Amino acid sequence: MPTHAERAVVVLAAGAGTRMKSDRQKTLHEIGGRSLLSHSLHAAAGVHPNYLVAVVGHQRDQVSPAVDTIAEEMQVTILQAVQEEQNGTGHAVQIGLTAIPEFQGTVVVTNADVPLLQPETIQALVDTHEREDAAVTVLSLEFSNPTGYGRIIRDADGNVLEIVEEKDASEEQRRVREVNSGVFAFDGAVLRDALTRITTDNAQGELYITDVLGIARADGKKVAAFTAPDARELAGVNDRVQLAAAGKELNRRLVERAMRAGATVIDPDTTWIGVEVEIGRDVVIHPNTQLWGSTVIGDGAVIGPDTTLTDMEVGPRASVVRTQGELGVIGEDATVGPFTYIRPGTELGARGKLGGFVESKNAKIGADSKVPHLTYVGDATIGVGTNIGASSVFANYDGVKKHHTVIGDHCRTGSDTMFVAPVTVGDGAYTGAGTVVVNDVPPGALAIKEGRQRNIEGWVEANRPGTDAAEAAKHARES
Ligand code: UD1
Ligand code: CA
Repeated sequence: MPTHAERAVVVLAAGAGTRMKSDRQKTLHEIGGRSLLSHSLHAAAGVHPNYLVAVVGHQRDQVSPAVDTIAEEMQVTILQAVQEEQNGTGHAVQIGLTAIPEFQGTVVVTNADVPLLQPETIQALVDTHEREDAAVTVLSLEFSNPTGYGRIIRDADGNVLEIVEEKDASEEQRRVREVNSGVFAFDGAVLRDALTRITTDNAQGELYITDVLGIARADGKKVAAFTAPDARELAGVNDRVQLAAAGKELNRRLVERAMRAGATVIDPDTTWIGVEVEIGRDVVIHPNTQLWGSTVIGDGAVIGPDTTLTDMEVGPRASVVRTQGELGVIGEDATVGPFTYIRPGTELGARGKLGGFVESKNAKIGADSKVPHLTYVGDATIGVGTNIGASSVFANYDGVKKHHTVIGDHCRTGSDTMFVAPVTVGDGAYTGAGTVVVNDVPPGALAIKEGRQRNIEGWVEANRPGTDAAEAAKHARES
């Protein structure tokens, strides 16, 4: 068995990205709920390198802390090298290597603006590089329209000679459709040596990483190309049009992944799924549904239409229709919607219900409990088997502070009850419709508002003569 060389991956993220026309550094724009930078670092970390280096420069006040955050999330070490002035991709790699001065193994170079690149593809490049015992292997792409890319120039026998940038290419070279993806595997020693010999003698006056191929080849070293199986994976993002295109392609892949894992997606074109979302078997996703963050959908759940869930946990077989939800938990077999707004800290128990025009926040609702209609539940704990009447409000805010309401098990609270927190309603208690609960209700009690209803007979005919109401009243009295 050949022993694998040690590996380092250098991710270039120092460029200006001016075509984004943004105050945000290019690689911090997001698709699939993750920045381009994060996508590229995840792919790089996916090949388990001994060292992972990010080269930062332009707007590094934004990029550098973002790299640290991503490293923490991924629980890997990411070294950073600062390229003060962006003198080209060759210069960026020179800078990157200063972070690993002793390293001698295989150096992989990737770009932070190719968010669809998968670790399997980087791995296949490295495998080819090591198997062929090459000094340099470039990940190449076959494009029918190669405009803008560096062309891979081969000799009559098909050996790779060099890469020529479009701006430096002859008419004939421009017709070549095999292009440089910007991803390479290098023998570390060959790379270090060649980088001391590259020059700015080119149309852009920059130090090109691509010149390393020609130098290695001239030294008699083996230079190879590995053609990416799927060129779409290397689609670069330089402007917002490409950002949207990459986002759509990523989404297409994520929706397909969910379907292959056993979810039914009624309309893949209007279903958006973030990279970290987990979707179980026999889930049905209706149109216009967006699932973001660390959302988890249990087996057999039905989601949508018109539903946006972020960092939500939905239990098996739950139904969530026309709902906006964030940082909440929906229990198994529970039903939510339509037109429900779930805010952070909501926990709905098994078989529970949050119905139409219900808003919840920081509310723990026990198993089999229902909040079916037109209600605000904030800062509350509700027991099991309780029903909250229509149009109730948990008045949690006294204008200065938030307070908590506790409702026991198996309660039946009437329509239009106001729970003025802090207040506790005991197990099995009832409240009458329209009650303003300001004092605790003991278990099993009925809380009702004092103040009897008074009917003033004949008031409408006396005070609103000639109206339709007065006519109707007169008709009812005479019939
Ligand atoms: C580069 C390649 C080209 C290839 C194309 C693929 C060179 C000379 N050309 O061209 O052959 O077809 O990528 O997309 O390498 N960067 C830095 N510091 C710099 C310059 C660039 O970190 O000084 C980073 C950028 O942030 C970016 C990457 O390097 O992530 C590529 O740079 P870019 O200027 O986009 O190169 P291209 O002109 O697209
Ligand atoms: Ca580019």
